[in-house]
Amino acid sequence: MKFKAEILAAAMICVAFNGNAGKPTPVYLDDSQPIESRVQDALSRMTTAEKVAIIHAQSKFSSPGVQRLGIPGIWCTDGPHGVRPDVLWDEWEQAGATNDSCVAFPALTCLAATWNPEMSAIYGQSIGEEARYRNKNVLLGPGVNIYRTPLNGRNFEYMGEDPYLSAQMVVPYIQGVQDNGVAACVKHYALNNQEVDRDHVNVLVDDRTLHEIYLPAFKAAVKDGGTWSIMPGYNKYNGDHACENQTLLLDILKGDWGFDGVAISDWGAVHNTEKVAQNGLDMEFGSWTNGLNWGASNAYDNYYLATPYLKAIEEGKLPMSDLDDKAARVLRLIMRTEMDRNRPYGSMNSDEHYAAARRIGGEGIVLLKNDKNLLPAENAKKILVVGENAIKMMTVGGGSSSLKVQRETLPLDGIRKAASDKGIEVVYERGYVGDVTGEYNGVKTGQDLSESRSADRLIADAVRAAKDADMVIFIGGLNKSDHQDAEGADRQDYNLPYGQDAVIEALAAANPNLVVVNLTGNSYAMPWRDKVPAIVQGWYIGSEAGNAIADVIFGKVNPSGKLPITFAKDLKDYAAHANGDAEMYPGVNGDVTYKEGLDVGYRYTDKLKKDRINYAFGHGLSYTTFKIGQPALSSKTFDGNGTVTVTVPVTNTGDREGSEVVQLYVRDEKSSVARPYKELKAFGKVNLAPGETREVKLTLDKDAFAFYDAADKMWTVEPGKFELLIGNSSDRISYRLPLQVGQSLKYKD
Ligand code: BGC
Repeated sequence: MKFKAEILAAAMICVAFNGNAGKPTPVYLDDSQPIESRVQDALSRMTTAEKVAIIHAQSKFSSPGVQRLGIPGIWCTDGPHGVRPDVLWDEWEQAGATNDSCVAFPALTCLAATWNPEMSAIYGQSIGEEARYRNKNVLLGPGVNIYRTPLNGRNFEYMGEDPYLSAQMVVPYIQGVQDNGVAACVKHYALNNQEVDRDHVNVLVDDRTLHEIYLPAFKAAVKDGGTWSIMPGYNKYNGDHACENQTLLLDILKGDWGFDGVAISDWGAVHNTEKVAQNGLDMEFGSWTNGLNWGASNAYDNYYLATPYLKAIEEGKLPMSDLDDKAARVLRLIMRTEMDRNRPYGSMNSDEHYAAARRIGGEGIVLLKNDKNLLPAENAKKILVVGENAIKMMTVGGGSSSLKVQRETLPLDGIRKAASDKGIEVVYERGYVGDVTGEYNGVKTGQDLSESRSADRLIADAVRAAKDADMVIFIGGLNKSDHQDAEGADRQDYNLPYGQDAVIEALAAANPNLVVVNLTGNSYAMPWRDKVPAIVQGWYIGSEAGNAIADVIFGKVNPSGKLPITFAKDLKDYAAHANGDAEMYPGVNGDVTYKEGLDVGYRYTDKLKKDRINYAFGHGLSYTTFKIGQPALSSKTFDGNGTVTVTVPVTNTGDREGSEVVQLYVRDEKSSVARPYKELKAFGKVNLAPGETREVKLTLDKDAFAFYDAADKMWTVEPGKFELLIGNSSDRISYRLPLQVGQSLKYKD
């Protein structure tokens, strides 16, 4: 029966595409054939004009396929935290669809803070299902640009400061998305670490830093995650735009890493036909954004990879081989996605997706401080909530990651609901006014956040209410408006905006039971740190923000998030800002020079006095306590090949179920080059019932010991003494184990 149905289906396809039942199915339509044969077959049937047509946009987010051959086009969508609502064909304004509301998942900083690749897999699977259901075949995300400066407006879209953590977390996200027959598009390749002058800023960085800090997450996305597409960014590297950069695209991405997918330009990031044609970019999008009154009907035909490219090929000025390579890659992507008839159908706004968003959110929230076990708030009778971020929708705004959500539970509502279940009274005071607007590209929150009281009055009212409550929860931080956590501009200040420091100080003086919950994608100054007994880092959590926060506040979820970034005391405690050198940030005459080299995040603060950080990379508390037991090594020497396994027993010594993250940092005691004091090279998260002990196994291979030797472009392991530092935070190392590396090694990416 099944056999008959298959024959019938095949016959129908022949009819559908060839109009001639009985003729054999062409190879490119026959999905029993290997993809490469199908790609080459399709390519061989295409005219030059058709090849050119499929490598550039036909609208804001789509490209055409080959209608004559029945090959569908590509539909992209942002990413990376939810599937963006549809915009008009040629405009950023809303298409006005009524079927494009989504679940907003937590921002990627929050995902990274789970330190749990399983959460990445759930995230990727869920957002992939939403994209698939909406018939998108490229999801523009995830982002893995390294957190070089806390001023970068887009850090919330990325996975923190550490190349190893980002690499581990990005891979399952990609695989989850692609299991749905939707391509992930990892961005922004590479060195897109600031928004100031983002379209043209030229990054100058030494090769070793490039390979050790800024490329590993992209490499993992390609080599381990098998991403089907990647997005070169707006910035330049060594004088050439990322989309036209031979080193990044041809030498490294397609050469060293063997990338077989599609390099899709960031929107409007292409500048020159000749360069972009020859240096490895495959698809051009967004070059001009108005097809209506600029360029009218032929706007897309004027793209750098459109008519000008076709003309150059026809005149023999540019080779056909490059075009064939680009078109083949685009065809491969179409076969992997839209033309894969076995891919699932996807789903949208499902209970499972909300559950995933809530779970990831709860697991990514980081308990920074909890003096006198103030949290969980189980015994409070009357809680005062203060702060604009308790009542502000945060899924609208911030740039291209802005969403139109089916629903978003606000922190105040989540807290109210959980509190009422426990018979706790909740009252609210605004405390300060930040950004009362609520619109992005025509998506409106519909919230009225207007407020007529003066700043002093707002504080006085909050203080009065604080004196009458037995616990105060301040919910503030940054938001998604310009110069906060948003695309297109950087923050201008390391401090919290809108006078929040004064509000927190006043509340701390009024009530000793103050919890500060900040929702941000960046670190910030905490002049009030020592006066506040409990501090929670909340990130942007999306649709389930309120519920995830309430889960942690009231103890339904025992916090287990760990910081993926260093919370340094001042801006100058980040190396890029240490000397206030404009050449290092934001750049001078178009160049920004990463003079700090490897000194990013904890790699820099490890060189400073301890009091220069508020909370270290990897830090995060729990409502229970853990004991990390004596680790055992599978071998005391490492011969350069194979692996060493470190087994670490962890015991839950408290009275609540909880999860702990064991972190392993490698330290090279003596090296021919300067190396960071320590570097994260393995981690593992374990969930434990009270009293339970389990072993975490951490595996190290040659990559854990290697540095990048820029002279011969090889990864290099030098023999000698190493130390394995094991703990539950970069600043809480419980064990130091010696390890002897016996042999030197040189190898390529
Ligand atoms: C952003 C990308 C985004 C694209 C499409 C650009 O401005 O940099 O991250 O995917 O727009 O919206």
